[in-house]
Amino acid sequence: MSTQGFDHRRFKAQERAGFNRIAEHYDKGADLRADLQRALLDEAALQPGEHVLDLASGPGLLARDATLRVGERGQVVASDIAEAMLQVGLRRAAEDGLAGLLFAAADAEQLPFAEARFDAVLLGLGLFMFPHPERALAEVRRVLRPGGRLVLSVWGPRESVPLISHAQDCIARVLPQPRVQRPSVFRFGDAGPLELLLRQAGFGEVGIGDYRLHCHFHDHEAYWQAFLSLAGGAAEAIGRLDPELRAKLADEVGRELAACRSANGFHTDSLVLIASARR
Ligand SMILES: C[S@@+](CC[C@H](N)C(=O)[O-])C[C@H]1O[C@@H](n2cnc3c(N)ncnc32)[C@H](O)[C@@H]1O
Repeated sequence: MSTQGFDHRRFKAQERAGFNRIAEHYDKGADLRADLQRALLDEAALQPGEHVLDLASGPGLLARDATLRVGERGQVVASDIAEAMLQVGLRRAAEDGLAGLLFAAADAEQLPFAEARFDAVLLGLGLFMFPHPERALAEVRRVLRPGGRLVLSVWGPRESVPLISHAQDCIARVLPQPRVQRPSVFRFGDAGPLELLLRQAGFGEVGIGDYRLHCHFHDHEAYWQAFLSLAGGAAEAIGRLDPELRAKLADEVGRELAACRSANGFHTDSLVLIASARR
């Protein structure tokens, strides 16, 4: 496989289509990661009255809780490239009476916000989605006020994230190798390269900690659905396969997970890094 021929516009379009496709499922599957979201928000230590950007927000799961933390004097904007995610978020915010939560469709590498507009930027499981993460971080820095903070989460190294690696292994066994390699979701899984990237983008006071994300699944189908509800690009590609191949993939997941099954289902313990940095 090679990175030659990688087309970042096509990649973004596929991710956007994929996350639009899975928007409802993504929101419903969020309970699995509720503790991780709480840990990221605790790290951000948002204060009443602050202005916050939830970047690559999906349906705005972090944004909803952030709205409660900054209170009526504060303001939260949820921003994502996939409009259907924001539509789900808008509907959920209306149901929950969060009238002050704003939504803005945007590419993280080119943000439509004024300089120094925010006190804090949250970026949950999003940095590895961007073809040019350094451009996104430059934009984050631009929209943060001096002294403002960025708090983000990324997956750890591949071997420490069974929530994703089992599914990827099955895909690699059943489907033909892609002609062009996509950026790996694990590429910031080691603290060293992540810290370097943040420092090169001009951030200081960088801190990176480990978080263990524990997930329980009753059976392999629940695991497979959770994966498809989380990975937009993969869901988009798999959604276009003919039903026979999709069924073959699901069977392969069943075989893969049978080896790790316990009495009451299947458990994954995945490593997430939570990083904070200051402009
Ligand atoms: C794994 S989801 C994370 C959602 C949410 N932050 C969370 O913590 O659950 C990744 C999100 O990144 C969005 N995304 C992908 N590429 C993007 C881009 N270039 N700019 C903005 N958002 C993007 C996707 O649409 C998707 O909603």
